[in-house]
Amino acid sequence: MTAALLCFLLAGPVLLVTGSPVYNSNNGTVPLVMWHGMGDSCCNPLSMGAIKKMIEEEISGIYVLSLEIGKTVIEDTKNGFFMDVNEQVSMVCSQLAQDPKLKGGYNAMGFSQGAQFLRAVAQRCPSPPMKNLISVGGQHQGVYGLPRCPGESSHICDMIRHALNSGAYTDFIQKHLVQAQYWHDPLNDDLYKKHSLFLADVNQERAVNETYRKNLQLLDKFVMVKFLQDTVVDPVDTEWFGFLKTGQAKETETLQESALYKEDRLGLAAMEKDGKLAFLECDGDHLQFGREWFKTNLLPYLH
Ligand SMILES: *[C@@H]1O[C@H](CO)[C@@H](O)[C@H](O)[C@H]1NC(C)=O
Ligand SMILES: *[C@@H]1O[C@H](CO)[C@@H](O)[C@H](O)[C@H]1NC(C)=O
Repeated sequence: MTAALLCFLLAGPVLLVTGSPVYNSNNGTVPLVMWHGMGDSCCNPLSMGAIKKMIEEEISGIYVLSLEIGKTVIEDTKNGFFMDVNEQVSMVCSQLAQDPKLKGGYNAMGFSQGAQFLRAVAQRCPSPPMKNLISVGGQHQGVYGLPRCPGESSHICDMIRHALNSGAYTDFIQKHLVQAQYWHDPLNDDLYKKHSLFLADVNQERAVNETYRKNLQLLDKFVMVKFLQDTVVDPVDTEWFGFLKTGQAKETETLQESALYKEDRLGLAAMEKDGKLAFLECDGDHLQFGREWFKTNLLPYLH
């Protein structure tokens, strides 16, 4: 989210200080694909652009692709609200498949909603192979609430909130509103399972697609970052793949307590057993991390 990232990147003087890059004698870097969050775009110099630059400084020679959904930055931002997510995922799949630099595989890092979208890429499109999937404040069990929106888009946000309340699972809203496609209403579990076009599908709510299970397990690591002071994502447990218990909207359950895990419908229990899941914490608001935190916690997964 633009506003949050903006704070992060302009906050401490440390943040924009160029670290001394390590020059590898070989160019054996793993390419990185990033997918931005809601209200943001591929190339905003204060968010994705700055993160891309920082990573390029830290890992010399790395190829970083910050996904642009659409032909322009404006389209990209709009599509983050209004474009069918399944279509976005399939567009990205074909873009990645056509990129010669990704042939040997890549790491993926998704910010906020971009994280669950990249997980869909891992589950649906195993070629080229995704190595590590890093979810930064992603909502893997969706959201039930929209407490705060990125600064500039607050009017859009009011509209979205209104639409979600008036019928998140109607066909029209599912097809045209990104946030509806990961709207998870624990009081209307049947409607969610039946009508959620994106999230219920990738989370194996209707049926178990063995392909999804198999493909997700091809990852080396699935890293999930949760922001301990998050005021944007509700409930924050979703950042670690937990959620509200079905039938009420107060008590939460962890991934490990969920049916998804216990029945291992998505292969996550198997992945945890193989040491492939990492649950990280960051003590900040949504997407607010500093360069040092990033270097210590996430950079190791980009090699
Ligand atoms: C390293 O390899 C990547 C991917 O092929 C390429 O884009 C980049 O320019 C190379 N960097 C250097 C410094 O050779
Ligand atoms: C399972 O997922 C794959 C990959 O997206 C898809 O091609 C296939 O049609 C799905 N199978 C079912 C039964 O939905």
